[in-house]
Amino acid sequence: MAAPSDFKPIIVGFLCNWCCYGGADLCGVSRFQYPPYLRVIRLMCSGRVDLEFIFRAFAKKSDGVFIGGCHLGDCHYNPEGNYDALGNSMVAKRILENIGVNPDRLRLEWVSAGEGIRFAEIMNEFGAKIKSLGPFGSSEGRDVADLQSGLEAATQLVPYFKLVERERFRVPRRTEAGYEEFFAKPDFEPLFKALIIDKLAMGRIMGELRANGDATAGDIAQKLRLDAGEVARHLHQLSQQGMVKLNGGQAQIAVAA
Ligand code: FES
Repeated sequence: MAAPSDFKPIIVGFLCNWCCYGGADLCGVSRFQYPPYLRVIRLMCSGRVDLEFIFRAFAKKSDGVFIGGCHLGDCHYNPEGNYDALGNSMVAKRILENIGVNPDRLRLEWVSAGEGIRFAEIMNEFGAKIKSLGPFGSSEGRDVADLQSGLEAATQLVPYFKLVERERFRVPRRTEAGYEEFFAKPDFEPLFKALIIDKLAMGRIMGELRANGDATAGDIAQKLRLDAGEVARHLHQLSQQGMVKLNGGQAQIAVAA
């Protein structure tokens, strides 16, 4: 569906204080032009951008989220806070895609304090991209409320995701290529599915049962746009954990919310 011509996107930009914010400032002082869609949130480091910030920004109907940090190797903290941002954005994009949000709505870039023109170019390009995608939910062809409930389920699991990232997704080579290689490895997908996607699906199933009461695996699968066989498998697992009761094909919550 084409975006309405008068569509003015909302883009939340998390900018690191030391580099990208300086680049944005220089961009303004130099009077380089870019669309006025960006709502800037200044942070000390791009590594501070928690998965929760990204999910919450979309849940509040931001049309795009931008993360800007120092170039790799130039982070002022740790000294690798921006590698954490890189890993987080890779994980976030996969989770967003799984719950139906177009991952192109999230963008991570490195901009130094001397690169005002680069900041303007990136924002012009990203602004145009988000404009072409249209309002949040429209390019996805999904109800915003459905996307929000997926984002809510993802937000509740952020502490778990962080633990998994720290313990199981340790990238051995802290370079951009090292990250790309790690996330593209054939054994990464099954691991990501088992540790993140399945957990997220179970969280969404529990949320659906809490919100709308008893349902069959087929009903839940249709509502959440999941595979019915997968939903049945998750319901079985949830019933073994005592979270759900299965009664004549109907699933119901077994524990208080
Ligand atoms: Fe800029 Fe860490 S201080 S990304």
